[in-house]
Amino acid sequence: MAQIAIMGYGTVGAGVFKTLAMNSEAIARRVGEEICVKSVLDLREFPGDPAESVLTHDFQDILTDPEISVVVETMGGLKPSYSFTKQLLMAGKSVCTSNKELVAEHGVELRQIARDNSVNYLFEASCGGGIPIIRVLNNSLTAEEIEEVTGILNGTTNYILTSMADEGKDFAVALKEAQEKGYAELHPEADVEGWDACRKIAILSSLAYGRHIGWQSVPTEGITGVDKADIAYAKAMNCRIKLLATSRREKEGTWILVAPMMIGRENPLTAVDGVMNAVMVKGNAVGTTMYYGSGAGSLPTASAVCGDVIDCVKHRGITIRTEYSTETMQLLPVDEVSRPFFVRMRGDEQAARAAFGSISHVTRLEGYGDELGFLTDTMSEKTFKELLSKAEGVISWYRRGKKEEEEA
Ligand code: HSE
Repeated sequence: MAQIAIMGYGTVGAGVFKTLAMNSEAIARRVGEEICVKSVLDLREFPGDPAESVLTHDFQDILTDPEISVVVETMGGLKPSYSFTKQLLMAGKSVCTSNKELVAEHGVELRQIARDNSVNYLFEASCGGGIPIIRVLNNSLTAEEIEEVTGILNGTTNYILTSMADEGKDFAVALKEAQEKGYAELHPEADVEGWDACRKIAILSSLAYGRHIGWQSVPTEGITGVDKADIAYAKAMNCRIKLLATSRREKEGTWILVAPMMIGRENPLTAVDGVMNAVMVKGNAVGTTMYYGSGAGSLPTASAVCGDVIDCVKHRGITIRTEYSTETMQLLPVDEVSRPFFVRMRGDEQAARAAFGSISHVTRLEGYGDELGFLTDTMSEKTFKELLSKAEGVISWYRRGKKEEEEA
């Protein structure tokens, strides 16, 4: 029997406890032995909860218990999870986490410590909730030069944008619902300002391209500025506004970006709604592949954590080999990337052409008075921003997927 511990009995930690109990037979069959939760660490009390009998408030109970070989870290944040994880790895225990903040900040160091101690630091649940995207990058697409990773990587913002577009809900109402369903971060600014998606694309891109990409170097824009009117224009143009997290290798270099983008219906990511996430990975041999599933929530995220626990139990004393590098990747500034842009501005078509040159897909909406929406030609972001700084009456703008992106 393998004995494990769970640190943090919140949405995900409780989901791990439940999943291991609910699927104990199937898990034992696959692993060849039972997996039993010996300790649950949390500062709170849980009277009447199934975990009550194994609850501890003292980290030392887990750290010093020689029977516990794998620890689930679902506390979130950096303190004290960083210090706890480090101590556990150094004590020869594997750690499985859903904590993207910790992985994005200290993942390189923690993986090295795991390797030095012949244990594992696994983080499948840190990106895309229940979608096993990290295994795909580490174990499946290993014969590929990866050319692009693009995803809807935050369930909360996708839930909000979908509710605004399909049900006409207000931003605040949709956010509250996402919080009630256990999708949102403790501080939902991490979701709505794009930081959560930023950490996830930094992690996935580091694995995809084999060089470290610090989350701090990812240009990141959230969805707080997305207005119902912008969504109405997108609909009228047969598009959706989605918070996309993208990295792509181009001739000139590799760029990375998190931003709300206007994408056309021909792009399969437009069909990813609610809390669902999807990741598109393009390899130079396989072409485009896509992965879809629940991006947040207790059991889907727990499923990914449990998969890691099982891997650790199956690989006791062995660090599972994956590519990673401490070398930092040089990135192409997003200003140098070219694409069309959607612009919503006050005035007429003549003024729009005077400001942005050739335009297309000119759209006017009833009830929106003296304004119009349109697409510019493909141009570099630098050029677009220069034109934008001189244009009068611009209400909002979005990056539009390039034709080849739309056909991905
Ligand atoms: N707050 C995150 C989301 C949770 O909404 O995607 C899963 O990482």
